[in-house]
Amino acid sequence: MRVTRRRLRVGAALLVTGALVLSGCDSTGTEAAPSPSASPTPSRTFTAGAPGAGDAYFPSYGNGGYDVARYAVKVRYDPAKDHLTGTTTVQATATADLSTFNLDLAGLTVTAVTVDGAPATHRRERNELVIKPASGLVNGNGFVAEITYEGVPKPLRNETLGEGGFLHTPDGAIALGQPESASTWYPVNDHPSDKATYDFEVTVPDGLTAVSNGVPGGKASKDGWTTWKWSEKSPMASYLSTLVIGQFRITTATHRGKPVYSAVAIAANGSADSSIAETTEVADYLETVFGPYPFDAYGGVVVSDNRISYALETQSRPVYSAGFFRQGVNTEVVAHELAHQWFGDSVSLGRWEDIWLNEGFATYAEWLWAEHTRKSTAKAAFDSRYAGASAKLWKTPPGKPGAKELFSESVYQRGGMTLHALRMSVGDKAFFQIVRAWAAEKHNGTATTAEFVALAERVSGKQLDALFDAWLYGTQRPALPRRL
Ligand code: TRP
Ligand code: ZN
Repeated sequence: MRVTRRRLRVGAALLVTGALVLSGCDSTGTEAAPSPSASPTPSRTFTAGAPGAGDAYFPSYGNGGYDVARYAVKVRYDPAKDHLTGTTTVQATATADLSTFNLDLAGLTVTAVTVDGAPATHRRERNELVIKPASGLVNGNGFVAEITYEGVPKPLRNETLGEGGFLHTPDGAIALGQPESASTWYPVNDHPSDKATYDFEVTVPDGLTAVSNGVPGGKASKDGWTTWKWSEKSPMASYLSTLVIGQFRITTATHRGKPVYSAVAIAANGSADSSIAETTEVADYLETVFGPYPFDAYGGVVVSDNRISYALETQSRPVYSAGFFRQGVNTEVVAHELAHQWFGDSVSLGRWEDIWLNEGFATYAEWLWAEHTRKSTAKAAFDSRYAGASAKLWKTPPGKPGAKELFSESVYQRGGMTLHALRMSVGDKAFFQIVRAWAAEKHNGTATTAEFVALAERVSGKQLDALFDAWLYGTQRPALPRRL
C-alpha cells in the first residue's frame, strides 16, 4: 500500500501510458478512482509495468504499475540440503492498465504463476520476474498473483553496501539486509515506497525455530516438520521483513497486552539475553518521548554468524549481531533499533536518499537513552561531535549522501546532530512536539525530508529552511545554531 506518494505515482503512470482519459480517473484527472466493476474495453491500452520503482539511488529496486496490500509467504526450508520451496500470494491493485508486471526475485526457479486463479506466463530477466496474466489488468482493479518457486537461496551483493538477503548457516538460515534482502526468499515489490501487511508460514525440520516479524501464530508439527506462523498486520517495507531459522533460547511474555517474543542464538553469551530482556523497558521509555509504540508485538533476535556484524530494525523484532553483546550488556543498540520502530518502520522512507530520517532519529534516540540512563547527555554527544568531528562528516551531506554513502557516519552522526540543532533552534517544548507530531501524522506511512521540514516549521511557527539547508545539505561545518 502507498500512502503519501500514491497520487503522484498514479498520475505519472497515466501520463506515460497516454491513457489519461480512458483509465477511470475522477474529474480532477489526478487520482485513479477505484473501479472494481471496470472491465477491459477495446479502447484501453495495456502496457508493461515498469521494472523499477524509480528510486534515484537504486533504480532497479521495486516495480511500477501496482500497489501491494498483502503478502502471504509460505516457505519450507531444509537446512541440510540448503533448499527452499515456496508459494507466495501477492494481493495488489493495478495503478495502470497492465499487460505485464514485474516482481523482484533473486535467483530461485519459478515453477508456476497464477493471476486471479488463472495460469499466467512468466519469464525471468535477471532478478526480475515478469508476469503476463491471461488478460490485461485494469487500472484500479485488485488482483491476486500466486507464485510457486524453489531452489538454493543466495544473498545479493551490492558493490559498496555489501551482502544482503538469505544466508545459509550451519543449523539454519538468516534472511536479513538493507536496502534489499526480501527478494532472495520471496517475490516482492522490493522498495519501501510500497508497504504491505504480511503473513508468514515457515516450515522447518522439527527441533529448529523459525522466527519472523509480528505476532506469533503458533507452531504445528507433522511428519518431522514444524510450521511456524507469524503475522505483521501493520504495513511493512519489504527490507524490514526477516526470517531466522536455527537453535535459539526463546523468551515469551505479554507486555501491555502485546506479545513479546525474543530469540537468542545458543552460541551467544548471557549478556545478549540480558540486553534483549530490556526491550520492553527501552520501548516504554521511547514511548514517553515519541508517543505510543507503533506495532502489535515486541521482541528481538540475536544471531551469531560472522557474516552479520550489524543490527537491523526488522519490524517489531530487530535482529542483532551477537557481537554487540560480547563486551557485556548493551542497551544503546537496543535503543537504536527500537527507535527505528517509530522512525524507519512506522514512518518509512519513500526514497532511499531520505535515509537520515531513519538513522538520524535512531542515533538521536541513543543519545536520549544515554541521558535517561545517566551515562551522558544529548548535549554532550552533540558538543563533542561538533568540536571533534572528522572533515568527512562535514563534506558528506546527510540529506543527500549518495547511494555509496547511504550508511555513512554523516547519515548517522550528522543526522542526529541535525535534530539536536533543531532542538537548539526551537527549544525543548517545540522540538518534542515536532518529533511526536511526526510519528503520529506519518504513522504507518511514508514520508520525505521536505515533509519533515514543513511539519517542523508548522509546529514551531519558525522559518527553518536555512537551518536544514546547512545541516542536511551543506558541505562544511554549519555555524552553531542559536535559539530562534
Ligand atoms: N540500518 C541498520 C541500523 O542502523 C544498519 C545497517 C546499515 C544495515 N547497513 C546495513 C543493516 C545493511 C543490514 C544491512 O540499525
Ligand atoms: Zn539505524
